[in-house]
Amino acid sequence: MTQVKGIGRHFLGLKGVSSTELTEILDRAAFWDQYPEKVADVLKGKFVVNMFFENSTRTRFSFEIAERRLGAEAVNFTAAESSVAKGESIYDTVRTLESMGIDAGVIRLKPVGVLQELAGKIRVPLINAGDGNNEHPTQALLDMYTIRKHFGDIRGLTVSIIGDISHSRVARSNLWGLTTMGAKVRFCAPPNLQAPELAEYASYVSMEEALRADVVMMLRVQLERHARGMIESAEQYRRDWGLTVERLEKMPPHAIVMHPGPVNRNVEIDDEIVEHPRSKIFTQMAHGVPVRMAVIERVLS
Ligand code: CP
Repeated sequence: MTQVKGIGRHFLGLKGVSSTELTEILDRAAFWDQYPEKVADVLKGKFVVNMFFENSTRTRFSFEIAERRLGAEAVNFTAAESSVAKGESIYDTVRTLESMGIDAGVIRLKPVGVLQELAGKIRVPLINAGDGNNEHPTQALLDMYTIRKHFGDIRGLTVSIIGDISHSRVARSNLWGLTTMGAKVRFCAPPNLQAPELAEYASYVSMEEALRADVVMMLRVQLERHARGMIESAEQYRRDWGLTVERLEKMPPHAIVMHPGPVNRNVEIDDEIVEHPRSKIFTQMAHGVPVRMAVIERVLS
């Protein structure tokens, strides 16, 4: 069971999680990945609530599919259709659902710090489905699973994470998880989209250097989190920081392209690359289901 900062039974992040535990989750995901069409009954009778206080397609639906494939009852909560729209707090909402007898909650939140606070007050296990720019642990696990499945091992690989690092929970969770698993992580970002507090864990390199990697992981430009004017224009961003077809050709022949989605086509990544043979973007999405099955099963077992 994952213990995060002494809070208990919740799955809040990858920082501080051991390589042994990460390997166990990835191995269990590999087990579930063998049976993509099967429904198991390992969580029969359990109720898992998906609480999304921020929009989602990949995470929300892959959690729901994972829950159903494990035989659990998936209950979906959307803030806009709930009493949150009448001013009810996040804590009161989660506490209300807990009082109804749920077994676990999958939760996505905009503000950083609220999840840690909730985890100290809520007894049922909470699984982080993305909190602000802090962590998105199941996304990083599915990224790590995709890398391990492609290369056989994560240890010794060089992974370049390129783009809007400052607003990215995906970059942070991948940094913690991949580093623990023995990969070398480097960042490449425009100066105003860097996260200086992470510089002691990963060096910032030029685009030319970042392309010399085993894995090139592009990040979405998170315009909804930007103060005005953080990028000049989509064209300028693509020209200076995007993975263009020309840049793809400079990558080593064995290197793969990743992106957590959703994608801004022709901004951080060229349209032609999204479904290119070297792109793992839709493979990553497919891996979301077995990886989340492994996490839910672990939290509830
Ligand atoms: N990668 C990711 O978290 O996508 P969603 O926002 O669609 O869940």
